[in-house]
Amino acid sequence: MELPLVLEQKFQTLLQRYPIKRSALVPMALYAQDVFGYVNDDLIAEIARRIDLSPLHVNETLAYYSMIRRKPAGKHHVQVCTNVSCMLRGGNQIYDFVRKKLEISHKEVTADGMFSLEEVECIGACTGAPAMQINYDFYENLTQRSTDQLLDALDKGSRPARTQPTSGAVHERHPAEVPVISRLFGVPDSHKLDVYLQHDGYKGLERALKELTPDQVVEEVKKSNLRGRGGAGFPTGMKWSFVPKDPGKTKYILCNADESEPGTCKDRPLMEMAPHQLIEGVVIAGRAVEAHRGYIYIRGEYRYVLEIVDAAIEEAYARGYLGKNILGSGFDFDLTTHTGAGAYECGEESALMESLEGKRGYPRIRPPFPAVVGLYGAPTVINNVETLSAVPSILHRGAEWYSSLGSAKNGGTRLFCISGHVNRPGIYELPMGFNLKRMLEEVAGGISRGRKLKAVIPGGSSCPLLKAEEIDLPMDFDSLAKAGSMLGSGGVVVIDEGTCMVDLARRIMHFYAHESCGWCIPCREGTAWLRKMLDRFHSGGGRREDIALIGELSKNMLGRTFCPLGDAAALPTISIVKKWPHEFEAHLAGNCPYQPAEALTAVFG
Ligand SMILES: Cc1cc2nc3c(=O)[nH]c(=O)nc-3n(C[C@H](O)[C@H](O)[C@H](O)COP(=O)(O)O)c2cc1C
Repeated sequence: MELPLVLEQKFQTLLQRYPIKRSALVPMALYAQDVFGYVNDDLIAEIARRIDLSPLHVNETLAYYSMIRRKPAGKHHVQVCTNVSCMLRGGNQIYDFVRKKLEISHKEVTADGMFSLEEVECIGACTGAPAMQINYDFYENLTQRSTDQLLDALDKGSRPARTQPTSGAVHERHPAEVPVISRLFGVPDSHKLDVYLQHDGYKGLERALKELTPDQVVEEVKKSNLRGRGGAGFPTGMKWSFVPKDPGKTKYILCNADESEPGTCKDRPLMEMAPHQLIEGVVIAGRAVEAHRGYIYIRGEYRYVLEIVDAAIEEAYARGYLGKNILGSGFDFDLTTHTGAGAYECGEESALMESLEGKRGYPRIRPPFPAVVGLYGAPTVINNVETLSAVPSILHRGAEWYSSLGSAKNGGTRLFCISGHVNRPGIYELPMGFNLKRMLEEVAGGISRGRKLKAVIPGGSSCPLLKAEEIDLPMDFDSLAKAGSMLGSGGVVVIDEGTCMVDLARRIMHFYAHESCGWCIPCREGTAWLRKMLDRFHSGGGRREDIALIGELSKNMLGRTFCPLGDAAALPTISIVKKWPHEFEAHLAGNCPYQPAEALTAVFG
């Protein structure tokens, strides 16, 4: 099959990028889809030929990834998010509006081929909710009016500018903020190397290469009390110390930029506005464990971010911060990006490695852990974007300084993505241990529409919910664990008194049932059953015994799967049934007092 030149060149680059050809499979398919609109049988055969796999295997792998289409979409593929943060701010109404305006439903195409529509899971624009993507462009803080204008403009042939990071993702700084990793947010051209160098860029790497041994770099990160920002809060320096000390062995640094946990949207601005900070963090991690190769795995939806990071990597190579003999130190490091194609599960570290190897993103059995047997069977450090972005400042300004910014055993600052029913949703960099009540009242401007607070999801939709009276606590990993929840990935979703908790539980379970990879039976069957039961309950067909059954079914999923996605589905559900049983009772009695998740556009539009 003859390919357009631009795609041919892309395929050639991708095939040289990895130690095995199969790793290029998913990116090849996504780029082919960008050119042809979908992946047809001829393209499958062509990709299969180039990576020495059967078309059957290619097809079977690609069927796993929700962004890969086997049928044509419209010229403008409209993807409306209705996940929790968007649902709370009118995402369902935006979806309905688009459906009626275009006269098509989920996964349908208009007769003229101009538009197609899809209701999608979290796109990582939670603080700009309600949000949608049209092709790869993000549009945030939507109202029915702005949506209407947007679709009309596209229909007339123009392409409205995507939402700028300054609206929705970034806001006026609050006095309580301590900008360390977000210090470049809002600075013009902050993605460029020269601007980064004016803001202490690459000084941490210089110290790591010229003044410290690899072991000393690990010690410095250990002393900083930096803990993983991807969700579990594992101490970063300790993770690095598990990598076998064998300088001759191939090892990898993997940056997890799959950011798909509902409520979480901080890795996108970090990569968009400070890509060199991340690159520096990855190279320092390489120096610490004596690895010489790294990959940044970016979720497929973040295409424009991938291009920004690619350009920054190119600049770093050109100026000697990547490649051979970095800063004259004798240390070599190569770095490339890799794109996913739509799968929350691929954010789970072992599934991410499978995906990068060109397979379906199924989790691996552990042990062995990635530090010993990871990507391509080699020792691998995997860290979140935010974790790695914190490393340059630690190396530059010292572990004690960084540690002292936070609370005991929880060093530094973190980006809190505050979304939902607050007056000032946004991404705020606050010290670890900052009080949650103050965060909502002072930083995020209090509960919108003068309503009362009902619940908070403190760290992304996988976390048990807190009631309004439980939020006077420090936001760090240990305090949240003590309170029976988790700090997770920093996605603070705020829920007011007008929200139906059965509806919320139902929406959360829809996400996990959609995203369960199906590998482990308790997760595959459990999430599907819970979704059915919660739907039935919400629509008034629940039975009294279902209340206990929902809780029991969820508990039976805990700890019974290869990865924690089953737990992630069960934990919020258990907390909702336990803390708001009366709302389930009200549904039984047929008198749920709440309206379906309301559009806030009248207020925020
Ligand atoms: C289902 C699932 C999805 C996950 N998604 C992400 C993700 O999108 N980004 C991320 O950094 N970590 C994610 N994680 C956590 C990773 O498995 C891993 O713990 C993390 O990348 C380690 O980096 P850290 O130590 O810097 O936090 C996910 C975990 C699970 C179980």
